[in-house]
Amino acid sequence: MKNEQSHRIPTTDDIEVSTYLGIAKELHGEQATPEPKPLPPGERETIVVIDFGSQYSMLIARRIRECHVYCELVPWDTPWEKIAPLNPRGFVLSGGPASVYNPDVPLALPYIYDKHLPVMGICYGTQVIIHQLGGQISPGEKHEYGHAILYLNTEDCPLFASLPTSFPVWMSHGDQILETPPDFKTLAYTDNSPIAVAGNDEGIFGLQFHPEVVHTPVGKTIFQNFVYKVCGCQGNWTPANFVAESIEKIKKQVGKGKAICALSGGVDSAVTATLVHQAIGNNLTCIFINNGLLRRQEPERVLNTFLSNLKMNVSYVDGSERFLERLKGVTNPETKRHAIGEEFIKIFEEEAAKLGKVNFLAQGTLYPDVIESSSASETKASATIKTHHNVGGLPARMKLSLIEPLRYLFKDEVREVGLALGLPEDMTWRQPFPGPGLAIRIVGEVTRERLEILRAADWIVMNEIKKANLYRQLWQSFAVLTGIKSVGVTGDYRSYGYTIAIRAINSNDAMTAEWAHLPYDLLARMSDRIVNEVPNVNRVVYDITSKPPATIEWE
Ligand code: XMP
Repeated sequence: MKNEQSHRIPTTDDIEVSTYLGIAKELHGEQATPEPKPLPPGERETIVVIDFGSQYSMLIARRIRECHVYCELVPWDTPWEKIAPLNPRGFVLSGGPASVYNPDVPLALPYIYDKHLPVMGICYGTQVIIHQLGGQISPGEKHEYGHAILYLNTEDCPLFASLPTSFPVWMSHGDQILETPPDFKTLAYTDNSPIAVAGNDEGIFGLQFHPEVVHTPVGKTIFQNFVYKVCGCQGNWTPANFVAESIEKIKKQVGKGKAICALSGGVDSAVTATLVHQAIGNNLTCIFINNGLLRRQEPERVLNTFLSNLKMNVSYVDGSERFLERLKGVTNPETKRHAIGEEFIKIFEEEAAKLGKVNFLAQGTLYPDVIESSSASETKASATIKTHHNVGGLPARMKLSLIEPLRYLFKDEVREVGLALGLPEDMTWRQPFPGPGLAIRIVGEVTRERLEILRAADWIVMNEIKKANLYRQLWQSFAVLTGIKSVGVTGDYRSYGYTIAIRAINSNDAMTAEWAHLPYDLLARMSDRIVNEVPNVNRVVYDITSKPPATIEWE
């Protein structure tokens, strides 16, 4: 096996296409991602988060976007030339693992202060500000980690407008502010940090606590105060504005060219295709390959939405037989994945070839993928953008340019955009579904009979989970056809049937996951229905393992 890790692709949702294209990358070699063209200055207001490597950096960006202000996360050493086109209205300096007095630590570049824009430091970001502007930092005598009460020294700081004079915050720092820089005031303290917040009249603030985490309940108000009251933002980051802006951009990019997009049924490709369709109409052709490994009614639903409701050009291929043929006798999970991926690319290329000259490929790459692929502060050496599996997998000979309208969106924003575009809720809220589909939920060989059994069981699980109003809350919930057969009594007869496992998990990013504590009566209903309604199944078990050590999928 070339890379044991590589099959577990921790993508967000619309995994099908990305997996296949990821496999194409291995087959055909990588192709560099074109850098998106920046918007002309003035068109958009941006808060720029300078990333010093905190585990919470992405969360900061999300919190700011929730305030309807566009925000980008950039490595700490990003030059001003890259920042200027974003039309920054303020900076947030993230936390990070370093200590300002150690050699070669990341610090703020001069433009952070020279541009006279507001700055909010968080944790290490604060220590950077204090250190660079002439204050003093000392290693904290008591490391502060966990809950603390913040007491305000002043009532007229815009950052704390409409907040009480004391409130709970989440601390996580070792170093402390010993002395503020000239012209800075101490704005708040905690029991362990005499200077927990410092700031000056220029709109530069340093917070020792983390407003971005849920354990600081007033965090959202602090971000709102910063972006609106301190930075003077308008708050024009809304799904409707995003849609209008994206359509214009795609029109400009594509001109009279032709584009293709692979539909998978997932939200990312659905939103991508719909945006591109609104921009270029019938110059977009969607290719929807039914690999025969989809859930019950999935192909019908996709065709109904895109073909009948949205009136898009959809080239539909029922590849079920071809995929089944490829999977004959295959039991190794990795071999399954590769077989499915290769077949997909073959069919995709065959279909694309029928369309004549095509110039663009639309893909649903999301912001977390981009951040993950781009340089982080500690990985200076790899500062050129690594091609992500989502991005780099174009068969090189197809020579297509990429359209990636979701490149700067988080998952929840994609869903909002999907709703703004009028996509049905069951599509915008679909749980992640792996590219190889049901094939990796059948332990052992994939056969038509086994697929039918799993589809029927999976349908019941989904149905009951939806009826219990848990579908959106759970990261994933599904059935697995385990490779085990066991003895049972069905009616008056001894039976020897399949065992279905139910899997339901909570997660934020699929990197880790906890098994969901589903109510017993719900489990009972699913079990009863499965053994009664699905032929050849006489046993149902509930998977009570978290990730790690298990993975979400069984294969
Ligand atoms: P695991 O099983 O690795 O799954 O905990 C993490 C997330 O990734 C999905 N997954 C896949 N998605 N191709 C995909 O497109 C794959 O080969 C694949 N394997 C796992 C899984 O559903 C979960 O969301």
